[in-house]
Amino acid sequence: MPQPNLLLGVNIDHVVTLRQARYRTLPDSPNAEPSALAAALAAEAAGAHSITVHLRADRRHIQDADVFLLRKHIGTKLNLEMGNTQEILDISLQVRPDFVCMVPENREEVTTEGGLDVAGQREALRSTVKALSDNGTRVSMFIDPDLDQVRASAEIGAAMVELHTGTFANHTGAERDAEVARLCAAAELGHSLGLQINAGHGLTTHNLTALWPVPHLAELNIGHHIVSRAVFIGLTAAVHEMLAVMASYSRA
Ligand code: PXP
Repeated sequence: MPQPNLLLGVNIDHVVTLRQARYRTLPDSPNAEPSALAAALAAEAAGAHSITVHLRADRRHIQDADVFLLRKHIGTKLNLEMGNTQEILDISLQVRPDFVCMVPENREEVTTEGGLDVAGQREALRSTVKALSDNGTRVSMFIDPDLDQVRASAEIGAAMVELHTGTFANHTGAERDAEVARLCAAAELGHSLGLQINAGHGLTTHNLTALWPVPHLAELNIGHHIVSRAVFIGLTAAVHEMLAVMASYSRA
């Protein structure tokens, strides 16, 4: 089958947010729903190319058991988002996800707020990248579209960067145009350094085409909008409508 122009990783964290809202204290209840695995399988059947989950230190949504279950049963790729802690690294080395995306993590944040400061913590990240890569996982750095962060990601041995599109998503007009220009420059530099260029955060069917000037995009990771749309139209249709918008991207 020909490889699509742009791949979609569906982040199912917020399916599990809903489950945890009711069943956090009753994880073994036969009524615990919605199922993370069922959501992942439905997203895959609808055309998702990978399943993304963030195993946070505070376990506010995805639980360890979810990650192991997904690893065992999904048919596409597993992308694990993680902060750089020994605890989560040990789990990741056991799970062997296809991809890991290293993210910053603060306990109080509602969601990942900014990119990872790769340039400021090269040695700590370099050893994590090596441990994961040696274990068969391709590693990405979730960074703001900042040229120093792109260079640092390449220098510590990451295979990919995921450009943080939160600022892009939260602005319109001239401010958004300026952010698109930063994203373009970061993508150009990353590509020239041999990095795969991914993007994610705050992307919706409404704002996505404004991102299309950014070259070299290989994969988008999208969660909140798809899960929100799924409440009204179902997960299958929500994945389909995102893929339909993504089909208009041209990488070069
Ligand atoms: N990529 C990364 C690294 C993230 O941390 C998140 C949020 O969990 C996403 C993508 C998805 O963002 P959203 O849920 O806004 O689509």
